[in-house]
Amino acid sequence: MRSLIDIVDLSTAELDALISVALDIIAHPEKYSDSCKGKKLATLFFEPSTRTRLSFEAAMYELGGNVLSVTGGATSSVAKGESVADTAKTVSCYADIIAMRHPKEGAALVAANNASIPVINAGDGGHCHPTQTLADLLTIYREKGRFDNLTVGFCGDLKFGRTVHSLINALSRYNGIRFVLISPEELKLPSYVKNETLKKFHLPYVQTTDLEGAMPSLDILYMTRVQRERFFNEEDYLRLRDTYILTPNKLRKAKEDLCIMHPLPRVNEISVSIDDDPRACYFKQVLNGKYMRMALILKLLKEAQV
Ligand code: CP
Repeated sequence: MRSLIDIVDLSTAELDALISVALDIIAHPEKYSDSCKGKKLATLFFEPSTRTRLSFEAAMYELGGNVLSVTGGATSSVAKGESVADTAKTVSCYADIIAMRHPKEGAALVAANNASIPVINAGDGGHCHPTQTLADLLTIYREKGRFDNLTVGFCGDLKFGRTVHSLINALSRYNGIRFVLISPEELKLPSYVKNETLKKFHLPYVQTTDLEGAMPSLDILYMTRVQRERFFNEEDYLRLRDTYILTPNKLRKAKEDLCIMHPLPRVNEISVSIDDDPRACYFKQVLNGKYMRMALILKLLKEAQV
């Protein structure tokens, strides 16, 4: 049974095909309005979410399907100690596909290994968030018209920011990509991401603490929230949380066609005064996420039938 746990589960051809389907959905939504008639998506969210859960649910409704939902462990039998494996086996009796968010790294894989229906990882701890990467890729494609020859800056919490790890992997497949990794020393990109992606594929990258210095070179600036929920020590979080706040002043030397992204939720990383700047793309990312999740649901349900 095909599931999506990590963005590496999708080949480059499959990523490109998902983008094509999403663009077709945008152009011809009526063609897809009954595609999932009679099918049910179960959203199992054991960690907070606004965008991911609601966009999965909106995606399924717009495909003509239905949704079953568990939000927070307290309202399900997980609160009584039920395992992820048993939960996945149980939900397989009611639904056709699962989207699951869980605070523990590897939980989505455990669910996929025990479910008899496709499982989509909607975020497992600090590990992966592949459908955010799909949203990010569609945003880059719609804004830039390409993936090749881009300088992409990631700024903020590159240690715990799972969306950063997945997007670096996805973009590393294209030609002429350069990365600028902007973070405090304590929140640098983990060595395993560097070793398994950047170094393995000999991708050019620089690490810096200087956002304004990096700004003129960037085609994409991907801001991230400092992930309070992953810190062991509140003092460290408070010290690091406002290291980077993007303001209009900091954009003075940015390119006219810079694409400013953020997976959201935003806490304080981007001043709201930037929201009306035509370079601000983070709410477009939110909408693009729904289209890519529609394309992904269609793909996994189709593959489950053969
Ligand atoms: N980007 C994202 O995953 O947002 P939520 O946590 O609101 O789902």
